[in-house]
Amino acid sequence: MLTNLHKIRQNALSSITEASSLQEVKKIRIFYLGRKGKLTGVLRGIGSLKQEERRIVGKTANEIKKEIENAISAKEKELKDKDIKREDIDITLPGRIPWIGRRHPITICGQEICNIFTQIGYSIVEGPEIETDYYNFEALNIPMYHPARDIHDTFYLEGGRLLRTHTSPVQIRVMEREKPPLKVLSCGKCYRRDSPDATHSPVFHQLEGFYVDRNVTFRQLKGTLTYFAYQFFGKNIRTKFVPSYFPFTEPSAELYVSCSVCKGRGCRVCKGTGFVEVLGCGMVHPEVFNNVGYNPKEYTGFAFGMGLERLIMLKYRIDDIRLFYENDMRFLNQFGP
Ligand code: PHE
Repeated sequence: MLTNLHKIRQNALSSITEASSLQEVKKIRIFYLGRKGKLTGVLRGIGSLKQEERRIVGKTANEIKKEIENAISAKEKELKDKDIKREDIDITLPGRIPWIGRRHPITICGQEICNIFTQIGYSIVEGPEIETDYYNFEALNIPMYHPARDIHDTFYLEGGRLLRTHTSPVQIRVMEREKPPLKVLSCGKCYRRDSPDATHSPVFHQLEGFYVDRNVTFRQLKGTLTYFAYQFFGKNIRTKFVPSYFPFTEPSAELYVSCSVCKGRGCRVCKGTGFVEVLGCGMVHPEVFNNVGYNPKEYTGFAFGMGLERLIMLKYRIDDIRLFYENDMRFLNQFGP
């Protein structure tokens, strides 16, 4: 029996030395140490031996088992190391450089616009993104069944609440708790049920400003917004105000600036007109003042609202709004720290 054991040991060790693949080593392990393996067979037979013999054979068999196991592990490690050296490590491959985070273009430009306005006396406030029908519509002179509700395709929540469709409800909230004179700017997310495409996103950002005091005039509105357009787009643009309609301002207007893509000559972006619309504005409607308890005979004011993504797209000639939300660092890295 002992000679048999030594033969098994010899054979096992030499085939392990010769093995050239992990697969082969696995087969060897099963052949000798597996449940029906050679060495396992011997160990099973021990029971029928005399006690003295059983002790010696058992001890030797266990020692040989350990020896074979060690040889197999060593061989496996050797083969694995060789594999890695051959295929997995290419020391000429450059390492992965971690991207450095930066502020998002919406944050950068939002801050830039806030700075333009704080320098002329505006203070920054925030309002809730979850609103009530009253603040988002009713108080802004948009009653139920008003046609203007159609373009504000609204996300309604439980309990009559909704996701604000514009930042104008912030006007109401501020005027309810404070008295004129007020010069306020607010920036934040708005929501509309638009299908995403190159110019629409169900979440977008607006900047809203308003100025309320005695004797605020349309002329001041024009001056303020023209000043803003020059600061943001540069001195080389031209501006024009075009009559428009909003239920919460009267009169209402839209500010257009000369197209940055074709410099006003006419192209696809400005649909051949040479001008693009950048914001809506107007004199606060007397009904809105009534709703917040201001006397419209005593106070006047102007308000304006702009889409932040749209402004950035016009300034930097970006042709797809979805680029802002896809977190592609190659896009985001272009806007500075
Ligand atoms: N709230 C308007 C919109 O979302 C923009 C606006 C704001 C117009 C303030 C006039 C005055 O389209």
